[in-house]
Amino acid sequence: MNKEPKAQRPRKRWKRILKWTASIIVLALILWGFIAYWTSSNDCKQYAAVPTNPMKAIVYCDYGLPNLKLQEIEKPAPADDQLLVKVRAASVNPLDWHFIEGTPYIMRALGVGLRKPADTRLGVDFAGTVEVVGKNVTQFKPGDEVFGGRTGAFAEYVCVREARAVALKPANITFEQAASVPIAGITALQGLRDKGKVQSGQKVLINGASGGVGTFAVQIAKSYGAEVTGVCSTRNLDMVRSLGADHVIDYTKEDFAKGTERYDVILDNVPNHSLSECRRILTPKGKYVMIGGGGPNEGRLIGPFGRVIHTLLLSPFISQKMGMMLAELNQKDLTILADMMQAGTVKPVIDRTYPLSQIADAIRYLEQGHARGKVIISVE
Ligand SMILES: NC(=O)c1ccc[n+]([C@@H]2O[C@H](COP(=O)([O-])OP(=O)(O)OC[C@H]3O[C@@H](n4cnc5c(N)ncnc54)[C@H](OP(=O)(O)O)[C@@H]3O)[C@@H](O)[C@H]2O)c1
Repeated sequence: MNKEPKAQRPRKRWKRILKWTASIIVLALILWGFIAYWTSSNDCKQYAAVPTNPMKAIVYCDYGLPNLKLQEIEKPAPADDQLLVKVRAASVNPLDWHFIEGTPYIMRALGVGLRKPADTRLGVDFAGTVEVVGKNVTQFKPGDEVFGGRTGAFAEYVCVREARAVALKPANITFEQAASVPIAGITALQGLRDKGKVQSGQKVLINGASGGVGTFAVQIAKSYGAEVTGVCSTRNLDMVRSLGADHVIDYTKEDFAKGTERYDVILDNVPNHSLSECRRILTPKGKYVMIGGGGPNEGRLIGPFGRVIHTLLLSPFISQKMGMMLAELNQKDLTILADMMQAGTVKPVIDRTYPLSQIADAIRYLEQGHARGKVIISVE
């Protein structure tokens, strides 16, 4: 008879215990995911009640562009440290379609809402007039014209804390121009100043120079005294030049990554080149700042995270700095941008304006990936 040696018996038992434990953990995770998915909901029930003090706002109870609704909901009341702003204009950003579609899907697991959007309001960038201030507000008063960032900006009113992302609008720019600034302007500013650490005389390449972020980035990099190269399509070459770019590259005719020029900073709004291609055109101490995560249908599962991990793994072994930046909306940087606009150093570029009722068309247009500057929503 073929008897198993005594010494092998405990090892086999442990293997069996490990196998069962792993299977139970995997099953528990699948069950937990299933329950979490089907029980995930949002606050949409509140919209069934007739508002006592109504305002119009865009709400969405389920993911997907067709689910956007312009609806009358309760007008918010400001807390003691908040301002109530009558929104005159808002602007759309790629961020909005990420929230509308719930993509990349990893965002859903990170709190955006597994089955339905957890937050049913949309929009961030706004500009408008302060209508009421809370009793502790000292910096703003009714009648002030302001701009800033706050979730739920696609609405007639937003409440925003006075210490958060809100600043006075310069008198020389319109509400539409001011509404174009918060996300795109701050991204360009923080990308160039904080991540790129751009210095006068440095060579800066801006890939995607004609879009929302790019049009601000060209002007801000110029204001830092950089030698700017803007990459865009043929129809936008003159516009990017007129913003101050010293050189323009038409991506339909030339691949910037195959050129002989070396750059101190690359601000990448369109990650359509590999990291090694980008490294090749950076100076030995150059900085690659990844801004864009790709279009709505690219990387639907994990979005730009794969590329981010790649930059993190690469960074310790190379002399160049590579990494992604996430813009942080704050009052200090909004004020810096307001000063730049007041001085005429930065002028927002507006592509199109849509009324609030046509928000889906505005998002559809932005989704195509060829906006020329910013797309605005008028909230009159
Ligand atoms: N990390 C952050 O905190 C942060 C903040 C804001 C935005 N973003 C991301 O940054 C990216 C850009 O945002 P955005 O607001 O500027 O978008 P956008 O306004 O939609 O601009 C897209 C621009 O990309 C250009 N483009 C398209 N294909 C190109 C190519 N092959 N080569 C060069 N340019 C090309 C288009 O120019 P043409 O019409 O000339 O093709 C268009 O002007 C998005 O992915 C967005 O999600 C990230």
